[in-house]
Amino acid sequence: MATPINIDKMATFCKQKGFIYPSSEIYGGISGFFDYGPLGSELKNNIKQAWWKFHVQDREDIVGIDGSIITHPKVWVASGHVENFEDVMLECTKCRERYRGDVLIEDMLKIQADGLKADDINKLVKQNNINCPKCKSPLGEAAPFNLMFQTNVGPKAAKDSVAYLRPETAQVMFVDFKYIVENARLKLPFGIAQIGRAFRNEISPRNFLFRCREFEQMEIEYFIHPEKSNDCPFLKSVESHEIFVWSEEMQKKKQKEKKMKIKEALEKGIIKTAWHGYWLATEHKWFISLGADPDKFRIRQHLSEEKSHYALDTWDLEYNFPFGWKELQGMANRTDFDLQQHIKHSKKDLSLFDEQEKKKIVPHVVAEPSQGVDRAFLVMMFDAYNQDPKDKERDWVVLKLNPKIAPIKVGIFPLVNKLEDDAREVYESLKTLFTCQFDRSGAIGRRYARADEIGIPYCVTFDFDSREDKSVTIRDRDSTKQVRVKIEDLKNTLYQLIVGEIEFEKAGKLIKQK
Ligand code: GAP
Repeated sequence: MATPINIDKMATFCKQKGFIYPSSEIYGGISGFFDYGPLGSELKNNIKQAWWKFHVQDREDIVGIDGSIITHPKVWVASGHVENFEDVMLECTKCRERYRGDVLIEDMLKIQADGLKADDINKLVKQNNINCPKCKSPLGEAAPFNLMFQTNVGPKAAKDSVAYLRPETAQVMFVDFKYIVENARLKLPFGIAQIGRAFRNEISPRNFLFRCREFEQMEIEYFIHPEKSNDCPFLKSVESHEIFVWSEEMQKKKQKEKKMKIKEALEKGIIKTAWHGYWLATEHKWFISLGADPDKFRIRQHLSEEKSHYALDTWDLEYNFPFGWKELQGMANRTDFDLQQHIKHSKKDLSLFDEQEKKKIVPHVVAEPSQGVDRAFLVMMFDAYNQDPKDKERDWVVLKLNPKIAPIKVGIFPLVNKLEDDAREVYESLKTLFTCQFDRSGAIGRRYARADEIGIPYCVTFDFDSREDKSVTIRDRDSTKQVRVKIEDLKNTLYQLIVGEIEFEKAGKLIKQK
């Protein structure tokens, strides 16, 4: 069980240990932008690699791309973002502080307000006498605010050179659709995946990495035949998977979320299509495979008034953050909205030929698992953070990151400085396979503590007996147990431990501890 800490404490911990820095802090910082430090960039890369392996490399039905951040501006006209990608802004009439309307309403009235229009927000502000939380003065009229960052392409800043930094990675997958299908010889059902930066000029970025202005997304557009939304060949693999479910009906009736099997949610018509059920369970399973606590997740259906302009049905995978249940991943059924829009605006044929029915079809995106990398990073950190005040032996933080994503997998220590050359030899032999850290400074206990705090799962110590018995000690971060292992077996043993193929106690000769 992780130790609960608030988001500010997590931000401080991340800064102190070199995971995340507020961007350009020496100039006073810039709100909504963050830099990943030495450990943060390793952890973030590991999360992205784990996602790519699970969703692309381990599957036959999904291929990946890496599209450009700036595209032709017509992409965003066709997608509806130029017209619709907006939040409602409230501004204080006195101190000029700006608030995102739905977030302020949620904070003040504790109701679900995502997607409320400016008129509804104005009404709620008046009815409930909501004033500026900062200076208590009246708020001005709510107004829509488009979240896309604009730039100019080329040397002349003119109307016809305006372009946008992408607010989602998704559109490139629709625009390049025809090429990808042909080159990868894809047959329905199939998915296209992408990891990359997205930019949103958020009105009030907050909660550290949770809502930033520059972030990364890991997205899949999963395409199916328009008439086959229940034809999911993988459903069996998730039918008995359990998850907390909070449907639109349950929310409207003020009922709590309920744990159920995917099979039950589909049979009762709570989740409408087999494909949507499959993807919701699969995304939950991905987090669990990396060590996250299954019961801190739930799936919540969007209320009708909350859905994006393109969505038929949307479920969010939510996580119970210290600041409440929040969206971790959006999963919309986008139907053929995007492909049809691009067909209309580009006048290009993006349909596929249905060999069986001998007719053209425009595939549907039955589910779009869309995950923020930075939010996944936060989940891994919150689930890993442990500090037990009752543990007198270990009065420091133990970051119990799953070994698969831990930024540094192995620490290598000489017990005393005169064994440094021998320990270095071990380090040299391991570093080609694992991200390792060599540490010779301070007492061994201090080195273990430093390793625990940054989540190194295994520490290898070269001691006085090592030259004789050609063995070293491996210490397990989570249990502090130690095993003795032959140096010639070390690579293999560490690999098995990291991927979870063996239990620690069976990895070598268990050392009795005092
Ligand atoms: N293509 C669909 C799409 O972009 P979204 O729900 O707007 O849907 C998907 O975004 C995911 O991207 C979210 O669930 C979240 O994890 C992440 N995300 C969105 N806005 C973010 C922000 N301002 N800061 C960090 N992550 C964000």
